[in-house]
Amino acid sequence: MDLKKRGREMKEFFDRKTDGYDDVHAAFAVTKRMLTENLDEGTVTVLDLGGGTGLELIPLFERFPEARVTVADISPRMLEALTARPFADRVRTVCGDFFETDWGEGYDAVISTSALHHFAPEDKLRLYKKVRDCLRDGGQFLNADKVVPDRRAQEEALTEYAEDPDRWPHMDTPLAPSSELELLEDAGFIHCSVELTDREDYRLFAARK
Ligand SMILES: C[S@@+](CC[C@H](N)C(=O)[O-])C[C@H]1O[C@@H](n2cnc3c(N)ncnc32)[C@H](O)[C@@H]1O
Repeated sequence: MDLKKRGREMKEFFDRKTDGYDDVHAAFAVTKRMLTENLDEGTVTVLDLGGGTGLELIPLFERFPEARVTVADISPRMLEALTARPFADRVRTVCGDFFETDWGEGYDAVISTSALHHFAPEDKLRLYKKVRDCLRDGGQFLNADKVVPDRRAQEEALTEYAEDPDRWPHMDTPLAPSSELELLEDAGFIHCSVELTDREDYRLFAARK
């Protein structure tokens, strides 16, 4: 998979979709709340991968008003919308591609929602190793994201994308839950688990360094 092309597609897509984004994603409120509910008591430093306009940070700052969050995202327009939130002074942004930016280290938790379902397993493994490296020992990784039911559906989507990466400007290539768990374990995480959400095609993955 050409990750630079993938990143460009995402940036263009989300820069274009920023206006009205929060209305569309209100439908994902439960998955966003689940992230916060699963964070450890006393969480302070958080990295949010693909945090966009900051929707999942609304419940997060309600539960953890003292939190300090870094949002890594490739879309300048989504990040610009985030700066209008009342908690923007507690958020630092890193604008650029997940595979190219420096996120810092020592985080209590890394969270992500609806942002990591565009990568092939080998790229995701690299990403998950990078996530693990930037956590403190014992830190949590929580990812609420789109999945496909099984590995057959996963292969079909990846093959369809590989055959014609230009067919759609933003084609999802979610992985199967079993594949996600295997990648987390291969990246060195422990206590890897998966939970259902209110959406049939969404799961919450949890893992620890
Ligand atoms: C569907 S939005 C999710 C935003 C937010 N997490 C939410 O749930 O409302 C996906 C976000 O991931 C970002 N993103 C996608 N691919 C990325 C990449 N390769 N590097 C950095 N950010 C990326 C997009 O710019 C977008 O803001």
